[in-house]
Amino acid sequence: MTVSPPHVDPFDLVIFGGTGDLALRKLLPALFHRFVDGQVPAASRIIGVAREGLDDAGYRGLVRDVLADGGGASEQIDAFLPQLYYLPLDARKDEGWDTFAALVNEQPEHIRVFYLSTSPELFVDICNRLGANGLNGPNSRVVLEKPIGRDLASAMGIIEAVGRVFSEAQTFRIDHYLGKETVQNLLALRFGNALFEPLWNAGHIDHVQITVAETLGLGRRAGYYDRAGALRDMVQNHMLQLLCMVAMEPPASLSPDAVRDEKLKVLHALKPIDMRNSAQLTVRGQYKAGAIDGERVPGYLEELDDGQSSTETFVALKAEIANWRWAGVPFYLRTGKRLSARLSEIVVAFKSVPHSIFDATAGPLAQNRLVLRLQPDEGVKLWLTIKHPGPGGLRLRHVPLDMSFAEAFGVQQPDAYERLLLDVVRGNPTLFMRRDEVEAAWRWIDPILAAWGGAGELPRPYAAGSWGPSAAVALIERDGRTWNEDSE
Ligand code: BG6
Repeated sequence: MTVSPPHVDPFDLVIFGGTGDLALRKLLPALFHRFVDGQVPAASRIIGVAREGLDDAGYRGLVRDVLADGGGASEQIDAFLPQLYYLPLDARKDEGWDTFAALVNEQPEHIRVFYLSTSPELFVDICNRLGANGLNGPNSRVVLEKPIGRDLASAMGIIEAVGRVFSEAQTFRIDHYLGKETVQNLLALRFGNALFEPLWNAGHIDHVQITVAETLGLGRRAGYYDRAGALRDMVQNHMLQLLCMVAMEPPASLSPDAVRDEKLKVLHALKPIDMRNSAQLTVRGQYKAGAIDGERVPGYLEELDDGQSSTETFVALKAEIANWRWAGVPFYLRTGKRLSARLSEIVVAFKSVPHSIFDATAGPLAQNRLVLRLQPDEGVKLWLTIKHPGPGGLRLRHVPLDMSFAEAFGVQQPDAYERLLLDVVRGNPTLFMRRDEVEAAWRWIDPILAAWGGAGELPRPYAAGSWGPSAAVALIERDGRTWNEDSE
């Protein structure tokens, strides 16, 4: 059954950082796909803004190439491009802002979305200039890309300064992991089925694993990434948000604050990791040269201009949530660049049965595991123990109930940004981070950064194409557990 996409009113979407990696790789393709589905009404405008001296035609040419490389049909690209505009603008200089304001004001009725796909250092300048030009009225919304700041103090500085121009209801702090189908499916699985929630606690769950593994290296992002590192780039936001979605109490409804209140409680209940325990609970790594899919890839330092850095490209850590539901249940998190495969998944491992009635010939009993695959091949697997079919005694097998969303629904899953961009246009902040969530996440991350800085240790090396430093394996194996092998 095909469901037609809901109606969207005409809007103007301005992308600051319009020629950057995120805009070209994610935002514009997402808007194009929504256009193809009829959700970018003809009067809507998409305005790219950046320092490069391009004009509309130059920008359209750039975007055409990107969309064509991504497999877009040329008639559809031709139809989409006239809705694109470009204006050169420097957030730190006065020139051009009156022209920009005049362009935006040509459509006073439209919802206006200002997407700040720039370095967080520019957020405040841009918002101040939007305010000074009267572009922060009730139909304006601002979208802030993560990471907001590089620690709690800088994040609060940004949040407060932006808050002087845009109200909380107008501010959308994006974490695109919340727009991924499987993440939203966690809500459906947990709260749409009677089966899981009674078992969703320390009495029945042994541990949780969250892996976000990438094969990519730095690409065009060395300048940003080397100042951020994996903890700020992935853990402070995406990984902690996934953890919250697994661990939160059932919200009373899907209203934005009901969901965000519950996530915030989880962040507040995280046990601190600091200089006393970070050596036992965290592992940081940096990739060296290696091979991925048979191709040699350079090491991290070789990708940098000056060849020096102590930035981590891999993090594994063991988190615990100190509350009644989760006390004593470890949440193992790992993420890294240049790993063996592109794979993101959440594994909920249930406790073993309390007593085995089977004899040794039946084979070992394994834990039930619920595996939510975010990418690639989004889907859900529930590993169960069954009897191996046929005569010859009772032998046990561990097999998955396996649901690939693509196979089950026969459709390509939309990219997370497609959903989230339209949520901004419609003014629905449920899947965006409230200011107190961002602050609570930094409050937990800051002591880890301080502990690493204080210890003065370099990240552990790992070969590109591996699963990270061996210490990450030791982190979980010390507890008598293993990373989910189905994925490796
Ligand atoms: C971004 C990070 O937020 O997420 C990137 O800044 C990372 O470093 C990306 O590559 C991963 O997103 P996805 O959707 O490809 O898993």
